[in-house]
Amino acid sequence: MIFVTGRSKRAIEDHFDKAFELEVELEAKNKQALLDVVRSIKPANVECFYVRQPEALGLGHAVLCAAKLVGDAPFAIMLADDLIDGHPPVMKQMVDTFNHYNCSVLGVEEIAPEQSRSYGVVDGREWDEGVIKMSGIVEKPAPEDAPSNLGVVGRYILTPRIFDHLRQLKPGAGGEFQLTDAIQSLLGQEQVLAYRYQGTRYDCGNKLGYLKATVEYALKHPKSAPTSAATWSSVTIIWLTAWLPDKAA
Ligand code: G1P
Repeated sequence: MIFVTGRSKRAIEDHFDKAFELEVELEAKNKQALLDVVRSIKPANVECFYVRQPEALGLGHAVLCAAKLVGDAPFAIMLADDLIDGHPPVMKQMVDTFNHYNCSVLGVEEIAPEQSRSYGVVDGREWDEGVIKMSGIVEKPAPEDAPSNLGVVGRYILTPRIFDHLRQLKPGAGGEFQLTDAIQSLLGQEQVLAYRYQGTRYDCGNKLGYLKATVEYALKHPKSAPTSAATWSSVTIIWLTAWLPDKAA
């Protein structure tokens, strides 16, 4: 796993690091269950690498920061503020799609017209069920300029050719180097598919989305799922308060 982080994000590195002192203490106190939790944060077969993006110059620039570590192989991008609950996991669905068609795949979902300014919006035609052969992509268009109602969520599988296009990028929407613009350019060279994933997405980049994700995951987790009528009603009230303003809007 390659993390592209920025200033003051060192907590992420610490989270996936070995907690040596804590492990020694838990071992000494024979707290095996807690020790197992601490040791399972990073799967044993996964290595973590960290790259700094020195300036917030856009998603395209952030991805380019990882070019040397990625090398010459297809790779996946996950934007951590988009949490998606899928069964099978969305990345597994997308890897299967990549393996079947052997080309880049972007995760998309249907968005309301007024939301187009928050997304990369794809153009194309349905090829297979849930699979769209793309002819274009636009970053954060005005509703009247959006080519479809399919917005890109933070999941991508890309071929390494994307790096050639990232290196030639000029600033795009918001003055930033946009991954969307590099994908538009990649489309001139090879096929790219949009994949309508199966799952529930939480936009944790805003407070309400983050709260919804926390409550809904807590409701499903064996340690926190409500067991009595009392806890059910209190959790439901928190959940409804989180959910209603959004629905009303
Ligand atoms: C980024 C991408 C955008 C994509 C979105 C998904 O935008 O630039 O194309 O639709 O993530 O969350 P951001 O949310 O970082 O502004």
